Amino acid sequence: MLIRALTLFRRAVPASRFCPCATGRTQQYCTSAKNISIRDALTSLDTGSNIRIRGWVRSVRSQKNHLFLHVSDGSSLQPLQVIANSDLNIRGLTFGCAVDITGSLEKSPSQKQKVELQAQRVEVVGECDPVDFPFKIKERHSLEYIRQFPHLRCRTNSFGSLLRIRSEAAAAIHSYFRDNGFVQIHTPIITSNDCEGAGELFQVEVKNPHFFSVPAYLTVSGQLHLEVMAGAFPAVYTFGPTFRAENSQSRRHLAEFYMAEAEISFIESLEDLMKVMEDLFKTSTEHLLSQCAEDMGLFHKFISPGQRVRHDTLSIISYTEAIDILSRNSEQFTFKTEWGCDLQTEHEKFLVKHCGNVPVFVTDYPYDLKPFYARDNQDQPRHTAAAVDLLVPGVGELCGGSLREERLELLKTRLARAGLEDTYAWYLQLRQFGSVPHGGFGMGFERYLQCVLGVKNIKDTIPFARSSRSCLL
Ligand code: 4AD
Repeated sequence: MLIRALTLFRRAVPASRFCPCATGRTQQYCTSAKNISIRDALTSLDTGSNIRIRGWVRSVRSQKNHLFLHVSDGSSLQPLQVIANSDLNIRGLTFGCAVDITGSLEKSPSQKQKVELQAQRVEVVGECDPVDFPFKIKERHSLEYIRQFPHLRCRTNSFGSLLRIRSEAAAAIHSYFRDNGFVQIHTPIITSNDCEGAGELFQVEVKNPHFFSVPAYLTVSGQLHLEVMAGAFPAVYTFGPTFRAENSQSRRHLAEFYMAEAEISFIESLEDLMKVMEDLFKTSTEHLLSQCAEDMGLFHKFISPGQRVRHDTLSIISYTEAIDILSRNSEQFTFKTEWGCDLQTEHEKFLVKHCGNVPVFVTDYPYDLKPFYARDNQDQPRHTAAAVDLLVPGVGELCGGSLREERLELLKTRLARAGLEDTYAWYLQLRQFGSVPHGGFGMGFERYLQCVLGVKNIKDTIPFARSSRSCLL
């Protein structure tokens, strides 16, 4: 009875869906074929039969009795070469289609690859009309072009590489913090604080106006929540999405971006803080250069030729020195270069070049430029705060940080002057009960990727970009 049922079932299934192995099972349920990623196939030292891969066709070439395919599955930049007999008669096999292939993995006679798959069975799982498909075989499309197709651009080599690098960079950042004793804190996305005080908040609208009882916003930074935790842990971090409603069309601003933020207790100098910023930057970059060499190579060869991030040397200058350098070259700038003015992108880029195109820390900004939490240096006549930015080639500001004002009376006075004493009563309490010197910083994750890959537009570093006047998909 069971045998008859199986026979009937077998008749109902197209022959191509049966596994070529002897079990008589359909491909989907066959356990004898070994599923393997293309990355594993390419690095495999074992050749053998009954290997199954699934992916998307990157090229098809027909020669006399054979078809040569390149198949990718997102696991590596390099595709796997598949050779199929022309009489397999495969319908719908075009550039871009999805395939399920079983065959034997053999040593390749060609210098171009170590192994290739000799196909016994090729099934087209999803067809792709190459005329309508926006990407064309053998064409190298620009990042600007592929950006128009946020739903399809992951299928291109360049964006595939970006996504693998991004995933590895995120893992490297988490590893850095974990290896150095930081506790990860999931800071909230919905908050009632405006940490940076720059008024770039997205307000959360709730149908029931009494839901939160206070106005709620999407977070601009997890810093204040990290500071809460820094009252009980020596080192904490968060790494998540942040939101800023900056009306900027610039190539380095997003409305939704990721930020890695750290807060460290018992530190008393900006040097201690800069050491952590530098270590995070160097360790993550070294990790990417060693673990994503092929994907990084694509960017350094085709997208930003000749650009290599210098992460071995970093410079340090004070804000006051920076203003001196800029003032001597003021004719080159649109914005003012007077002491007390904020540094603009043009200034940041100039300073990086001036220091030999290496990352540059700028320290001790004017007190009045920095938010209420920045520690007062109590200096004269130029009143500064213990704040630091890290500027990097091609991007400008990558990290912003400071020592925090831990002295209750000074903080009280500053908040009172801004009329914020009641709003931040809880923050003042952190200084009332077991306050310690502490400091922290935030590193923009997409700007970090721009910097290490030499990508000009920040929208090309995030899977789905959101910025003013653009929220496709
Ligand atoms: O300098 P920011 O504003 O610093 C803070 O938010 C601090 N509360 C962080 C802290 O001390 N925990 O932002 C930090 C970094 C910037 O240096 C920049 O790299 C990135 O976040 N950033 C943006 N990235 C993309 N799009 C935007 N609109 C960004 N705004 C800031």
